Amino acid sequence: MKQSPVIFSLFANSCIANKIHQALGYELGNLSIHQFPDEEILVRIDSDVKEREIIFVASIDRPNAKLFSLIAAAETVKALGAKNIKLIAPYLPYMRQDKSFHSGEGITSTYFAKLISGYFDELITIDPHLHRWKSLNDIYTISTKVLHATDPIAQWIKQNVVNPLIIGPDMESEQWVSEIAKNINASFFILEKTRKEDRDVEISFPSMELYQHHTPVLVDDIISTAVTMIQTVKHLKSLNMKSPLCIGVHAIFAGNAYDDLINAGTEKIITCNTIFHHSNKIDISELIISTLLN
Ligand code: R5P
Repeated sequence: MKQSPVIFSLFANSCIANKIHQALGYELGNLSIHQFPDEEILVRIDSDVKEREIIFVASIDRPNAKLFSLIAAAETVKALGAKNIKLIAPYLPYMRQDKSFHSGEGITSTYFAKLISGYFDELITIDPHLHRWKSLNDIYTISTKVLHATDPIAQWIKQNVVNPLIIGPDMESEQWVSEIAKNINASFFILEKTRKEDRDVEISFPSMELYQHHTPVLVDDIISTAVTMIQTVKHLKSLNMKSPLCIGVHAIFAGNAYDDLINAGTEKIITCNTIFHHSNKIDISELIISTLLN
C-alpha cells in the first residue's frame, strides 16, 4: 500500500499543517530544531521518512534567521532516505529585490531562488511579489505553483464590510485589487506610489468626493514597515473619508509597524494566515488543500 506523505511544520506554521493533516490524512511528522548556546543548530527527525514524499510547511518571513534551519532540515530528511520534498512557503521572501535598483546592487531574488531550487523538488506559495519577474519560473528551476488569496479576501470583505471601496496603494497591487473588486462588485482605485527610501514613500491620490459614504478598504500583498498603508490612511483621513480597513496578505509588521498603522487612524487591520500574527482573520489553508488534492 502506498504510504501517505509526511508533513512537517517549521517556524510556527502548525495551524496550516494541522488543517492539511485533518483534511487529507497526511501523517504529521516530528521535527525539532535545537539551538546550542553558540546559536548553531541541530535538526532531528523522529518520523519514518524513508522513500516517503515529504512536505515542509514553512513561512519564510525574517528569512535570514530561518534559512539554514530550512536547508538543514531538507538535508536531514534526504539523508534519512526521503523520496522528494515539497516546500509549501505561504510567504515567499526576497521577491521584491527583482532588479538592481542602484549600481553595484545584487539581485537577491535570483540568489534565493537558486538556493531553494537546489534543496526542494517543488514549491507552492501564496501571492509572491511578482512584479518585474512575471512568473516564479523566471528564477526558480523547480516546479512551482502560485496560489492567490483574492477569493478568501473578497469573501471576508463581502461578509464584514458595508459599502466597501477597495483601494490599492500602488501599481503592483492592481492584480489583487481589481480581482477582489470584480468578485464582490465594488468600485476600486489604484494609487501611485513612489518609494524614496525604506521608510519614506509618497502616494498620489485622485479625487474621492463621490465615495464619502463608502468604507475604504486598503489591500496590499505585504505589510512590512506599513509606511505604504500609513501614508494612504493619513491621506484618506485628510479627505474626510471614513476610517479605513487595511488588509494585507502577508503580515510581516517590521518593528512597531502594526501599532504605527493602528495609530495612524486605521479602523482595523486584517491579514491572511500566511505568516502567524494576531491580525490573521482570513484562512488560506483551503487553497493549499485543494492544490494538494489535484
Ligand atoms: C511593494 O511594492 C509591496 O507591494 C508593498 O506595497 C510593500 O512591500 C509594502 O511595504 P511597506 O509596508 O514597508 O510600506
